[in-house]
Amino acid sequence: MKTPGRIRISELLKSTETGSEFVVKGWVRTKRASKHIAFIALNDGSTIHNIQLVVDVPNFDGEILKQITTGASIRAVGVLTESTGSGQPVELQVKNIEVYGTADAQTYPLQKKEHTFEFLREIAHLRPRTNTFGAVLRIRHAMAFAIHKYFNDNGFYYLHTPIITASDAEGAGAMFQVTTLELDQLPKTKNNVIDYGQDFFGKRTSLTVSGQLEGELGAMALSQIYTFGPTFRAENSNTPRHLAEFWMIEPEMAFYEITENMDLAEDFIKYLVKYALDNCADDLAFLNKKDPELVARLAGVVDTAFVRLDYTEGVEILEKSGVRFEYPVSWGADLQAEHERYLVEKHFGKPVILTNYPKEIKAFYMKQNSDGKTVRAMDVLFPAIGEIIGGSQREENFDTLNARINELKIPVKDLWWYLETRKFGSAPHSGFGLGFERLLLFVTGMTNIRDVIPFPRTPKNADF
Ligand code: 4AD
Ligand code: MG
Repeated sequence: MKTPGRIRISELLKSTETGSEFVVKGWVRTKRASKHIAFIALNDGSTIHNIQLVVDVPNFDGEILKQITTGASIRAVGVLTESTGSGQPVELQVKNIEVYGTADAQTYPLQKKEHTFEFLREIAHLRPRTNTFGAVLRIRHAMAFAIHKYFNDNGFYYLHTPIITASDAEGAGAMFQVTTLELDQLPKTKNNVIDYGQDFFGKRTSLTVSGQLEGELGAMALSQIYTFGPTFRAENSNTPRHLAEFWMIEPEMAFYEITENMDLAEDFIKYLVKYALDNCADDLAFLNKKDPELVARLAGVVDTAFVRLDYTEGVEILEKSGVRFEYPVSWGADLQAEHERYLVEKHFGKPVILTNYPKEIKAFYMKQNSDGKTVRAMDVLFPAIGEIIGGSQREENFDTLNARINELKIPVKDLWWYLETRKFGSAPHSGFGLGFERLLLFVTGMTNIRDVIPFPRTPKNADF
């Protein structure tokens, strides 16, 4: 279907119909004017590139020209001509312009000069109009589309898992509570504890940290499912890689063991990176100007076999490295980003899939190895980011899983339905979670996770 009433600038820039009349609508990026001629760069978000509007000043309404300042929204009618200037193939010789909305030059926060990303976060309502955020948001869309395409093409079903939940999938204990109770008049039981029986759901509920547990239920019927939704973690970690609200993609597959899980994760992420290279070339070329190794880094991942390494071997490499890490490392320690990045960037120079982690630092549902110490976990570690994917084979044996749940004192009454899958037709199965914004950090080369989501949620920040 044609865009009603206008041609998108992305289409117009590809057009060969010089001499024809077109209508474009968008926001003014810049205007340069002399007595004779004015050049207006117009952008409508369909591409990183602007269309140049050329105005014959002596024959144009001076009052309207005055209103056309950076940020104004306009409709322009003009004739397409080959451009003599460098930088664009075609331009529009303007016949007339209608101003939809002016933007006061004194107060419009986005001026021509470069703004810092810190400043742009304070004006997140306007930053989509900058080149960088336009590029990031178009790439974000392309990646979301590619994710659905990959799974659809490979026989996975998109399963919608609940956002409000009474269970804590990761056991990290950092959840946002959901309640309709009056917080300043909480109802108490006889024993003087909060009476959640009177809450909306009749029990204590929170926003989910992961769709995995319900994802497993789906996989135990449809064989291959994936979730793609928002997840919420109230951990107070103010880092460039953590959000309180982020999007996660979680495939879950019956009859997959850990090696097949790793194969899928590697194929999936390479597909996504290749999709970006093939479909987001203009935006990546723009971002590559700021981060000159970006495109090479992306191409490198597509062509490289990921290293697969036991956690135990990884720790040995770190111990032998002689590097004084901020967090000391030894067997049993949870790896920090600095350790992950040492392995990926310094030691191997390529993505690493680390497996067989100590069970103490991983979630209750992971399949236990026969050594009694480790579980079939897998983390995919990426350059500049560290962990981008976390996953595992799942413990499918009822007794082993039940024993682990009791050992960790997880209330079984909240998880009876999860345990029942191990009672009725249990089967080996595996899955993983890809942090969507971590993927976008990698693909865009942006360095702060707040800059790859339209409206970030972080500690003390829920504006916009
Ligand atoms: O390793 P995590 O905690 O694994 C899970 O949630 C499993 N249930 C996944 C599964 O097996 N189905 O999180 C998965 C990924 C991480 O590797 C990271 O990329 C991302 O989610 N992630 C975050 N991204 C942004 N902000 C945060 N606070 C994140 N926490 C995790
Ligand atoms: Mg993890």
